[in-house]
Amino acid sequence: MTEIARAAILGGGVIGAGWLARLIENGIEVSVFDPDRGSDRKIAAVLENAERAYAKLTLAPRPAKGAWRIVGSVAEAVQGAELIVEAVPERIELKHRVYLELEAANADGIVASSTSGYKPTDLQAPMHHPGRLVVAHPFNPVYLLPLVEIVAGERTDPAVVERAMAFYPAIGMKPVRVRKEIDAFIADRFLEAVWREGLWLVKDGIGTTEEIDDCIRYGFGLRWAQMGLFETYRLAGGEAGMRHFLAQFGPALQWPWTKLIDVPELTDELVDTIAAQSDVQSGARSIRELERIRDDNLVAIMQALKATGWGAGLVLADWERRLFDRGAVKPAGDLSRPIRTVDRTVPPDWTDYNNHMNEAKYLQCFADATDAFMRIIGADADYIAGGMSYFTVETHIRHLGEARAGEPITVDSRVLEGRGKKMHLFHEMRNGGGRLLATGEHMLLHVSLQTRATCEPAPAVRAKLEEIAALHAGLPAPEGAGRAVGQRPG
Ligand SMILES: NC(=O)c1ccc[n+]([C@@H]2O[C@H](COP(=O)([O-])OP(=O)(O)OC[C@H]3O[C@@H](n4cnc5c(N)ncnc54)[C@H](O)[C@@H]3O)[C@@H](O)[C@H]2O)c1
Repeated sequence: MTEIARAAILGGGVIGAGWLARLIENGIEVSVFDPDRGSDRKIAAVLENAERAYAKLTLAPRPAKGAWRIVGSVAEAVQGAELIVEAVPERIELKHRVYLELEAANADGIVASSTSGYKPTDLQAPMHHPGRLVVAHPFNPVYLLPLVEIVAGERTDPAVVERAMAFYPAIGMKPVRVRKEIDAFIADRFLEAVWREGLWLVKDGIGTTEEIDDCIRYGFGLRWAQMGLFETYRLAGGEAGMRHFLAQFGPALQWPWTKLIDVPELTDELVDTIAAQSDVQSGARSIRELERIRDDNLVAIMQALKATGWGAGLVLADWERRLFDRGAVKPAGDLSRPIRTVDRTVPPDWTDYNNHMNEAKYLQCFADATDAFMRIIGADADYIAGGMSYFTVETHIRHLGEARAGEPITVDSRVLEGRGKKMHLFHEMRNGGGRLLATGEHMLLHVSLQTRATCEPAPAVRAKLEEIAALHAGLPAPEGAGRAVGQRPG
């Protein structure tokens, strides 16, 4: 899926651990170096949160987790690494020292600095091979937020930038190339402006920390999460659009509304006020609880945006497509047997109050199996984008056993009929012990997405389906196929 198989992470704090989670969840092998002996405990906590979030984020078949280990030196970590993620504290002399140390042990891996603000030209200054350094500035939590700002220094090799731009989407991220080097890049510049205003608003007693946060999360924060600033304002201009908006509200910028250019002094009094208000606002929950709430909310927002085909949801959909395509390659072996189309564990939140998988997820799992089968016969994302697909017209699910949270489940699929526009599939879901948990029978018809009417599949898809159908015709008929609701084995 990615051209990078081995990575190193230098610095296992908040950001390094977040990178670690994202990389290993995408099947990349990682070595981590952090001189702090306590870092493994902090890393474990982040990985646990990430695992929980990923189980909710996507139903796509994720690759086997990349192996990872903590090692004793920079040199050991970067040995053979194609990507070296630098996530050490934000002190330029420390970053410089780490670059020289890594260059002595690794000649050609890309060095991707997580810095929040240093210009890459300043970072690469002492390096022997400065062309390999690029800034890849992520956002916390790195394992969930898609944005990564890519910034090149004066001596960065353009090929390294290109490679970075191609790599990050493969691990579910949205790289944005910053056109010119500035301190703090685009996003942190913006955040600092908002942060300054927030500090003034507290200092001047205009609102408490909670009231200010409410003004964001109940209002413009919702708009920003899905359209950003400029597109939102375009809509504020009504049918006359952006020009009208600028003409109407532009003069207001001359009014003394903002204190943006001033920074409030962080006196003891202001620090006490903010800390006390923050305790009232959020002190009832631990940081761990708040992180999980944050992760659940981010997952829900991204999934909602996926359903509308917009913004961060498109990045999630693109990553899932890559995962599905990668997952679908696996069962290409013996097509004369039922084909393995799902191989996963039951995530904790797929279970209901009885602690077994809820019925909607059985359907989800069988739908995933059908999707995987469609990819095998060539009815994949490109085929669908080209205007044709299969639509399910009938489904029958039998619930025969309980699937519990954390339990491994597989689905094996076979073709009962595959001719012309018709595709009749039978899926069997089993647990790790081989016990049959459910069967799903689906009738699908091939359709044109333009006319929404049935039509013949493309010749290659039709031929592959017919080939597998002929092979499966020799298998004994599966128990339960063709059963109507309420019929039990006689
Ligand atoms: N925290 C954020 O929200 C955020 C967001 C984006 C980028 N960043 C950037 O990411 C980088 C790391 O920030 P962080 O928040 O994870 O800091 P952190 O303090 O949580 O982690 C830094 C880690 O680096 C380790 N370290 C110190 N010296 C080291 C060395 N010589 N070799 C390897 N590891 C070493 C420390 O022990 C620590 O665990 C900084 O450049 C920061 O600006 C931070």
